[in-house]
Amino acid sequence: MVSYKELGFVNTKEMFKDAMEKGYAIPAYNFNNMEQLQAIITACTLTQSPVILQVSKGARKYANQTLLRWMAQGAVELMKEIASESGLKEIPIALHLDHGDSFELCKSCIETGFSSVMIDGSHLPYEENVEITAKVVEYAHKYDVSVEGELGVLAGIEEDVKAEKSIYTNPDDVEDFVKSTGVDSLAIAIGTSHGAYKFKVKPGEQPPPLRFDILEEVEKRIPGFPIVLHGASSVLQEYVEMINKYGGDLSGAVGVPEDQLRKAAQSAVCKINIDSDGRLAMTAKVREILWTQPAEFDPRKYLGPAREELINMYMRKNREVLGSANRVY
Ligand code: G3H
Ligand code: 13P
Ligand code: ZN
Repeated sequence: MVSYKELGFVNTKEMFKDAMEKGYAIPAYNFNNMEQLQAIITACTLTQSPVILQVSKGARKYANQTLLRWMAQGAVELMKEIASESGLKEIPIALHLDHGDSFELCKSCIETGFSSVMIDGSHLPYEENVEITAKVVEYAHKYDVSVEGELGVLAGIEEDVKAEKSIYTNPDDVEDFVKSTGVDSLAIAIGTSHGAYKFKVKPGEQPPPLRFDILEEVEKRIPGFPIVLHGASSVLQEYVEMINKYGGDLSGAVGVPEDQLRKAAQSAVCKINIDSDGRLAMTAKVREILWTQPAEFDPRKYLGPAREELINMYMRKNREVLGSANRVY
């Protein structure tokens, strides 16, 4: 058993308290490899933003769980180095399991240094969701690890309109869920979805607004409780266009407009999950370089610029969308 405290991570308690009080959201950026991790740490240290490093089950498998744990530990050291060289403060970093699907996976992450886990029982019947979430909470809290639960299923673009009511979080459930499980934060479904194809819109059309009415109703039922927004990539069109220009095909890719995220960040939404935007930025830059410099075969020559692109994107997100820059407490 290795405690996250020994590795230099923090749980999400203080992060969410500050974000709730001051009306901003903590960025939760996913990583799978070294360049993504370096970019997240660099951008968040330079903008003085607390950050949640997110690891999915798939990421853990891809990078190898042992290597990944050491990479995350190394990330804390990298943050200290950047802070010291730039005369900046050290930033709080949480290591979080994204979309944990079993008690065993959550337990394994807690035992290998994670400071926060998500148990995603959102696809289960309500009582089963409560049961598995409460079980994870009971174990995690013994080690001062934070737990995120989820109520409501994030819409997929293929979802039938008739299923609409069962997709969005039902505000009537949230109070009981939070009380019965003891979770520290709650992910809700208000119209976002994972991936690069969030809405079916015709060219030039705006995607439908998020269901802020549901968010407001949830806030009334559990005042001051930290809410999490998944599927919050904006699918920046400059990257979609670059990808399409340099041999890719992402026609029709659409995300959540950034002004909606700005509004959400000022509410009880304390954690905003972004993965796809990072994937798109990295892919766009790699495609551009491989397309325009066909003789290039040194991975540093395309992954390095891709990392720079990521740094710039994350810095801008922290400053202009989440409001998390200059929030080191
Ligand atoms: O919510 C899903 C995240 O984007 C992680 O995706 O399971 O492909 O790593 P992944
Ligand atoms: P995006 O696919 O919109 O980036 O969502 C990521 C996410 O919710 C990770 O849990
Ligand atoms: Zn998610």
